[in-house]
Amino acid sequence: MQLSARLKTMASYVISGEPAADIGTDHAQLPIYLVLNNLCPRVIATDLKEMPLSRARKVVVDYGLLDKIDLRLGDGLYPLKPGEVKSVVIAGIGGNNIAEIIKKRPEVAREVRLILQPMADSFDLRIMLGANGYQIIEEELVIEKSRLYEIIVAQAGFITIANKIELGLGPLLIRRGDELARKYLITQKIKYEKILLNLSRAQKMHEEKIREIKEILAFIEEVLANWPIPRR
Ligand SMILES: C[S@@+](CC[C@H](N)C(=O)[O-])C[C@H]1O[C@@H](n2cnc3c(N)ncnc32)[C@H](O)[C@@H]1O
Repeated sequence: MQLSARLKTMASYVISGEPAADIGTDHAQLPIYLVLNNLCPRVIATDLKEMPLSRARKVVVDYGLLDKIDLRLGDGLYPLKPGEVKSVVIAGIGGNNIAEIIKKRPEVAREVRLILQPMADSFDLRIMLGANGYQIIEEELVIEKSRLYEIIVAQAGFITIANKIELGLGPLLIRRGDELARKYLITQKIKYEKILLNLSRAQKMHEEKIREIKEILAFIEEVLANWPIPRR
């Protein structure tokens, strides 16, 4: 099976030789890859909705892997029992949705390595992780069809980053100091500039939000001005 660079990178962070779960599996590509490549003996593949889960079941049946890929319907981490798997992948959904999934079931989330790929709101997701006793252990950027994807690997633990803005933007991404990280920061700068423009045009006053965005922009500009930053 040919896996996209995004899914392949996530697969590389799954604890090998141990059972894993893929939350919001849809096409079941990741579970199939993990099992076919002997990275995991067993994978639990879940989805919130019947339709994507039946799509996943069809592909799993085609590969003859129903004995190794356990398909379960349900919201977030609810279909999992604590301790059932060692890694949980949550990819291709919004960061705030991922944050809710983790917050709702700490008895599962705190026992596993979390491999997360938010489609948006990664800033809020990292802040939630820090505020709820999760440590970011690795971060990576993947470029696919000219879109940048952020991959965040986390586990229960403590974050030592004092600066909220650095935490939200991805401390380990920034510290990589490579060309992809610079591209990521430029993309973030453009995004926050647009948000600022829209907020300042809005009828309603958003003073607090505007101040926050200005602080983020000042941080990004400072990091870019001193690029490449010294690796810590
Ligand atoms: C865009 S697909 C991503 C598929 C795959 N994970 C990937 O990254 O390529 C998002 C899937 O997540 C599912 N999903 C969204 N919220 C969910 C939740 N709270 N629990 C389980 N699945 C969810 C959707 O039904 C959909 O099938």
